[in-house]
Amino acid sequence: MTTTSFNQGKGLGQPVGVAVLGMGTVGTEVLRLIAENPNAYANRIGGPIEIRGVAVSDLSRPREGVDPALLTDDALGLINRDDVDIVVEVIGGIEYPRELVLAALKAGKSVVTANKALVAAHAGELADAANEAGVDLYYEAAVAAAIPVVGMLRRSLAGDQIQRISGIVNGTTNFILDAMTSTGASYDDALAEATRLGYAEADPTADVEGHDAASKAAILASLGFHTRVSFDDVYCEGISKITAEDIEAAKEAGYTIKLLAICEKLVDEEGNKSVNARVHPTLVPNEHPLATVDKSYNAIFVEAEAAGRLMFYGNGAGGAPTASAVCGDLIGAARNKIHGGRAPGDNPYANQPIADFGEVPTRYHIDMRVEDRTGVLADLANRFANAGISLRTVRQEEDAENEARLIVVTHEALEKDLRAMVEELAALPNVKEVKSVIRLDS
Ligand code: NDP
Ligand code: HSE
Repeated sequence: MTTTSFNQGKGLGQPVGVAVLGMGTVGTEVLRLIAENPNAYANRIGGPIEIRGVAVSDLSRPREGVDPALLTDDALGLINRDDVDIVVEVIGGIEYPRELVLAALKAGKSVVTANKALVAAHAGELADAANEAGVDLYYEAAVAAAIPVVGMLRRSLAGDQIQRISGIVNGTTNFILDAMTSTGASYDDALAEATRLGYAEADPTADVEGHDAASKAAILASLGFHTRVSFDDVYCEGISKITAEDIEAAKEAGYTIKLLAICEKLVDEEGNKSVNARVHPTLVPNEHPLATVDKSYNAIFVEAEAAGRLMFYGNGAGGAPTASAVCGDLIGAARNKIHGGRAPGDNPYANQPIADFGEVPTRYHIDMRVEDRTGVLADLANRFANAGISLRTVRQEEDAENEARLIVVTHEALEKDLRAMVEELAALPNVKEVKSVIRLDS
């Protein structure tokens, strides 16, 4: 990837014109932070920030904290003004912001966005447009809002080799799972509470079905492994099927259920390398730092060859925490507009293939009801052995009459072999029901 233009810089003391697209939860806080700290921002940048306009969809709505003369419903017109140097996109969605961000980049404006769905779907196209125009594309807030994980991967760990990234990157689902774990609440009651407190959206599908976390996993894997990983490359399972019984079973076995985004580099027996990114409910051992992340907090656990294990923890959502990350990016982009040069962008030089999830080693916790009679346990154990799946623990409890509850935890095996095993078990007359299957992380 080559840069065809070079940003010379406007010179010290020159104003930097900014267009803010969107004045909702995040946009309002971005404008507040800029308005409250003009001198600090100017000193950090080398010139003052000047807001040229704020695009919204509904001009009739009353707005506090912004000069009404700055409001417009013509986002494209605002972007194309000659006195706009940087565009901050905090609208959300994919197709419309894609159009706006591409227009901005092609017009030579640097872009700061908090939009993970956009970046996860179109990172390559956006990075190419930024490179061709010689401008910056920043998106720190797109992953875990205030937690500076994008900058950490792009800059701080640029000299290291990332091996694995696992994390809790969705606050809504962490709140729901934490409420189920700490109070014994049902999934529906915990979701209702998350909605009441404003964590979950009116339509919580993107959160609870894991789509929001999958966008973030795609971004983390792309940055960590220098490979373009898009939303469609991420295996994704949400938390909507997790029951209070699953939470209890996890507790009894010394685990906590978390929705994890897991990104890892794989090497097969022939030495072929690939990348996997996935999101699914995961049993995390209680002693693992991610197990203790409660409420709506996010945390990202990074394993790097030289740095070792690092953990980043904090607010992964909300207007002010997200605006903190957006404004940090804005200062970086503005500094480059003044002094010249560009921030480190995406560098997908490694271009590793995306692993088929079936070929990825995972571990299963299987909770089933079986006939309580001689030979059933031995038969099931033989089936695991014949499939080449080693068992780590087997726990049997009396359940209903002539029925036993059997909880099996496997050692690592290929996902496709574990899936086939579960299908085989579910079809056996001795197995009354496979109640739940949840993957484990080490
Ligand atoms: P909101 O829905 O609160 O705000 C969206 C804003 O965009 C509103 O001001 C809306 O205008 C404006 N808008 C919508 N359509 C248009 C349009 N066609 N032209 C101009 N403006 C338009 O979203 P958030 O602030 O919560 O989120 C913004 C982005 O930040 C999203 O990409 C989200 O994923 C991301 N993000 C959000 C986090 C959060 O905690 N909220 C955390 C991390 C990232 P109007 O006010 O008139 O309705
Ligand atoms: N809905 C997201 C969450 C917001 O719950 O974490 C931040 O991306």
